[in-house]
Amino acid sequence: MDNAQTPRTLPRFSATFDPHTLAEIRRAAATGIYDIRGGGTKRALPHFDDLLFLGASVSRYPLEGYREKCATDVWLGTRFAKKPIHLKTPVTIAGMSFGALSAQAKEALGRGATIAGTSTTTGDGGMTPEERGQSQTLVYQYLPSRYGMNPDDIRKADAIEVVIGQGAKPGGGGMLLGQKISDRVAAMRTLPKGIDQRSACRHPDWTGPDDLEIKIEELREITDWEKPIYVKVGATRPYYDVALAVKSGADVVVLDGMQGGTAATQDVFIEHVGIPILAAIRPAVQALQDLGMHRKVQLIVSGGIRNGADVAKALALGADAVAIGTAALVALGDNDPRWAADYAALGTEAGAYDDWHEGRDPAGITTQDPDLASRLDPVAAGRRLANYLAVLTLEAQTIARACGKSHLHNLEPEDLVALTIEAAAMARVPLAGTSWIPGQQF
Ligand SMILES: Cc1cc2nc3c(=O)[nH]c(=O)nc-3n(C[C@H](O)[C@H](O)[C@H](O)COP(=O)(O)O)c2cc1C
Repeated sequence: MDNAQTPRTLPRFSATFDPHTLAEIRRAAATGIYDIRGGGTKRALPHFDDLLFLGASVSRYPLEGYREKCATDVWLGTRFAKKPIHLKTPVTIAGMSFGALSAQAKEALGRGATIAGTSTTTGDGGMTPEERGQSQTLVYQYLPSRYGMNPDDIRKADAIEVVIGQGAKPGGGGMLLGQKISDRVAAMRTLPKGIDQRSACRHPDWTGPDDLEIKIEELREITDWEKPIYVKVGATRPYYDVALAVKSGADVVVLDGMQGGTAATQDVFIEHVGIPILAAIRPAVQALQDLGMHRKVQLIVSGGIRNGADVAKALALGADAVAIGTAALVALGDNDPRWAADYAALGTEAGAYDDWHEGRDPAGITTQDPDLASRLDPVAAGRRLANYLAVLTLEAQTIARACGKSHLHNLEPEDLVALTIEAAAMARVPLAGTSWIPGQQF
């Protein structure tokens, strides 16, 4: 038999050393620098897709879509605040910084949220007049970095969110590279232009829940006890973190899972620190229930929420509302194939572009370049976001009606089953077709 006819094995890639891993080793070897990027986790993790709803049939009674109401509104901050927030939909816009995002993008988020009757949130780097002007309900983030922190802006906000951590990087601080520090961003952060900025990973003036309680009281005093105070944590030890946030006096707890987006973080951090939101909601709800605070202290969850089914599942597991970051940016126009040629010029493609820290975003969203940023029309982008928010709400409503619920908040774990043993154990719902919840004693 000559060589040409000798049967050969096909070239076979290692599952451990797959092409991405090989490329990353080569990149690290060539540069000596870790990879920084935006976005959330890229590998598949247990998520809401691993859950299914049990629609009503004989043993349950569905609601008629065209005639029977299914309410979607939510109150946030009912524990202590004199002026709690009332939203038409439980889908809110997560905190994303001016600096990470262009001023146009921040304005568009405010416009979209306002049309949809929901809230949007500032971020590291402070409040822009455009976003305050266009946001009917604006949550002001109070972050470890204190970049852009201004007591006057706190008073202009409708709620305050004390950020302790983010799902993409619990325990880590932010990064804003010099390319994105324009004159305006530098002035708002009172830091030099063009120099890389690293945000602190912990607050300068408190170390634990007792200090946090004092800080929260200080913020209440500044705002005359009017505004709800949220506490945002990245999902790691949700039972204890939520219990301590409640003890410290939070009106609302925001829990962000590891799939959550970031503007710029080390890839190794994004992919390997924290737990999926699917695994975090039930322990968080358990903490609230054990303290007699479920529905009294509201729980907002985030991290990879994309559609109305995700919203409905998060609510069924016990959340009061959700927050979206990445999906909102996509609705504005992020990673849009219309910029295919520009993405190709950056060595990537629409849908995969994640070098948000470089500030060269062809869609004008994660950039401070005036020419690129001017590509985003805040009015049109805001309208797209509002449409998307309406769809999320309608989809969640459709599912709730099919489960016989007259309010999204009436969805419950009993409406869900899991497709995998992992998801069943994490979400504490039965594996489909069984009554088995792994890890639970009966
Ligand atoms: C571009 C961008 C900027 C962000 N900036 C902040 C920030 O300044 N403060 C913060 O608490 N979280 C920040 N986040 C995280 C979001 O608030 C939120 O937790 C996360 O995006 C939710 O996950 P999702 O993107 O999968 O919806 C940012 C996220 C993105 C995508």
